[in-house]
Amino acid sequence: MTVFVTGGAGFIGSNFIFHMLAAYPDDRIVCLDKLTYAGNLSTLESVMQNPGFRFVKIDICDRAAIYRLFEEEKPDIVVNFAAESHVDRSIENPEIFLQTNILGTQVLMDACRRYGIQRYHQVSTDEVYGDLPLDRPDLFFTEETPIHTSSPYSASKASADLLVMAYHRTYGLPVTISRCSNNYGPYHFPEKLIPLMIANALADKPLPVYGEGLNVRDWLYVADHCRAIDLILHKGRVGEVYNIGGHNEMRNIDIVKLICKELGKPESLIVHVEDRKGHDMRYVIDPAKIHNELGWLPETGFADGIKKTIRWYLENRAWWETIISGEYRNYYEKMYGNRAEVQV
Ligand code: NAD
Ligand code: TYD
Repeated sequence: MTVFVTGGAGFIGSNFIFHMLAAYPDDRIVCLDKLTYAGNLSTLESVMQNPGFRFVKIDICDRAAIYRLFEEEKPDIVVNFAAESHVDRSIENPEIFLQTNILGTQVLMDACRRYGIQRYHQVSTDEVYGDLPLDRPDLFFTEETPIHTSSPYSASKASADLLVMAYHRTYGLPVTISRCSNNYGPYHFPEKLIPLMIANALADKPLPVYGEGLNVRDWLYVADHCRAIDLILHKGRVGEVYNIGGHNEMRNIDIVKLICKELGKPESLIVHVEDRKGHDMRYVIDPAKIHNELGWLPETGFADGIKKTIRWYLENRAWWETIISGEYRNYYEKMYGNRAEVQV
């Protein structure tokens, strides 16, 4: 079996590659990645010499190059993680999100149609469902919740999902879609909440919480997401959407306080700053379908997962310190330099 993993030099894609190489040593894994600011070859260092693994630097929007690679490698399965993934960047510049997340998905599916495929899997997000109000703890996202997006990022992911379902219905492409909640764990790019707060706290820098910090996310340890995708590939029903989430609702402010506590840093580092535009209040997944149909359950609870994650960042400083000392400094200055403090 040859499996194409796009976006495999990023956070979740790399963790998925590690999972697949360990679980299916006879499979061939080909990682397709453009190496944008979010992609890091150093992340894949430990598998580069593995004979069952190949890395190809490629843009999923580059139709000719993608077709050539399909002809050469004849993949059986394509798992598409490649995306622009940060909401704040999508608010600054939506265009690249539409190109990669929508048109890139189309190029990959066209290649699948042309060369034949056993499965095309689209890695999507719970953000396609929009948000839920804080005062309705009884509400969860199910696979039937209407698509109702807020940010250019979520709109681009939802557009791709619609296109994936259209390719299934119109051309009979054997597709599946997974919509996961917020992931955390090793190799998470330091622009995102948890690694950003760990890195800043370790440097005794301000911890910028958007608004009051009452927004709720449903956090899942990345390895649990990878196992869920593996199950969908091997046992999931073609044409279906599967939600993935761990019933682990946390307010942003509580996560930041927990990180301070774990690192022995004072909460006085926390600053409340101007809120994100269109900021979604609450995401929470109902994972009943993947549990009932495929037997999936998360294995790592948040209390353990956050400790493991913090330990990983402490033990792998070179990985993230290299990132935050490069182009990231300009990004940080642009996003946070002029962000006004707010009183809460
Ligand atoms: P990431 O930003 O860490 O990694 C994205 C990877 O895609 C990078 O390696 C980047 O170089 C690559 N890439 C970007 N544009 C490309 C292009 N045009 N061609 C080839 N490669 C390209 O993202 P992530 O957090 O690992 O997310 C992976 C996927 O999972 C995304 O589709 C995202 O929407 C989805 N998702 C993420 C989360 C989360 O919490 N991070 C939750 C649910 C779903
Ligand atoms: P993020 O990690 O960007 O994921 P997403 O927006 O996809 O959920 O943000 C998680 C939450 O943390 C979100 O409510 C925004 C908030 N946040 C901050 O308060 N400060 C920050 O510096 C960042 C990056 C995020």
